[in-house]
Amino acid sequence: MKKGIITKSAFKKLSSGHPWLSASDIVDRKILPPRAGAFLLGQHWWLYSPESFLKLRRLGPSLAGWMYTPRFNTLSNADQFQSYFGNWLLCHFKETLQKKMKLQNLDEEDLCLRWIFSENDFVPGLIVDIFGDKVVAQINTAPIELFWVNIQKILARAYHEVVGKEPTIKELRNSSVRKKEGLEIIVPETEPEPMILRWNGLIWQMSPGGSQKTGSYFDQRENHNRTKQIALERKYKTAWDLCAYQGGFGLHLAKAGVKVTAVDQSETALEAANKNLSLNSIPEENFVTQKADVFTWLRHKVESKSKVDLIILDPPSFVKSRTEINAATRGYKELNALALQCLNPGGLLVTCVCSHHLTPKLFESVLKDAAAIAKTKVKVLERHGPSPDHAPAPHFTEGNYLQAYYLVTS
Ligand SMILES: C[S@@+](CC[C@H](N)C(=O)[O-])C[C@H]1O[C@@H](n2cnc3c(N)ncnc32)[C@H](O)[C@@H]1O
Repeated sequence: MKKGIITKSAFKKLSSGHPWLSASDIVDRKILPPRAGAFLLGQHWWLYSPESFLKLRRLGPSLAGWMYTPRFNTLSNADQFQSYFGNWLLCHFKETLQKKMKLQNLDEEDLCLRWIFSENDFVPGLIVDIFGDKVVAQINTAPIELFWVNIQKILARAYHEVVGKEPTIKELRNSSVRKKEGLEIIVPETEPEPMILRWNGLIWQMSPGGSQKTGSYFDQRENHNRTKQIALERKYKTAWDLCAYQGGFGLHLAKAGVKVTAVDQSETALEAANKNLSLNSIPEENFVTQKADVFTWLRHKVESKSKVDLIILDPPSFVKSRTEINAATRGYKELNALALQCLNPGGLLVTCVCSHHLTPKLFESVLKDAAAIAKTKVKVLERHGPSPDHAPAPHFTEGNYLQAYYLVTS
């Protein structure tokens, strides 16, 4: 890349494969086009957001052979976008879907997965989740919005060519990141029609386009399974699924015979969990739901000296920006300390954090402090990230957001 257009530190960052250029990375901002679009800079095409501090996000992997030097260096027109990127996007969407289905051994019947995970899948600003024949796309940036009509058609064709069916594509414009892009945030007025799919062998009610994520936490698929396996191996009898949403962890355990209490503050989520309970003919006494604030609920359990074999702690992200790290750390520490005080000897805490701001190093120090507060000795039995469909790209640490630590008490 020509020197002088971007700063030296930005050059270093790009050389490591990072896909972002912010306003402060660009020395000569006069080169930037007036409108959102795609922009050729150096060897790569970028998606350009004029209103955002994050100006350029690289489209495609860093050493892509598919790029060629065009006559124009900026492109804000849908037809041009189609002729430059249409073929590449179609192949990329198809390949990504085929690879992910294979990686997770998914067939048509349990086709629930994250298809496109923004920068991690080289299409920044676009999140696409598949719920059977419903495809939910979250449009998060100005250039994706600009080219959406084309992208939507390419997605539909790619899905059809891989799965052999016409999908219904639902658009979501509800993410708070749209504000930074100068885009309107549109919150759906009604909850979506639920649909029944298969999830790790269970029958599952999903809400494509629902109020949390795009409707489901597909990123926890492997952790749901692994937690159940360990519970069986270690012959656990009782579990608390805290921040349970639609019962992802708890119902896997209840199906395996563990007596579970599932806690969440969302009534709608717990209703769906109970629906999932009956869909799977799990005995009702194996799965009890309680609507509560997890902090208050756990404090009562500590006060009443309640004990359990297994606790899953999967709260929402307490930290959306770096400025919130200290407050968030205090929250995670308190929750984990409370949970550890309630475990039987030899019990397991599966504790999750979903924010890239809380690095593994920082989270481990939170857990060390929590164990000291709880006066408990713990060992890290296992450590996992998200399911493979959410795998972070190595060059993009911001995409490495989900950590699950499996702590066993002695
Ligand atoms: C990351 S999601 C949990 C996903 C779920 N464990 C799964 O595997 O599908 C976080 C959940 O925490 C719930 N939640 C948020 N704040 C809470 C609070 N203070 N007390 C209880 N639940 C809370 C949300 O309603 C949401 O369902």
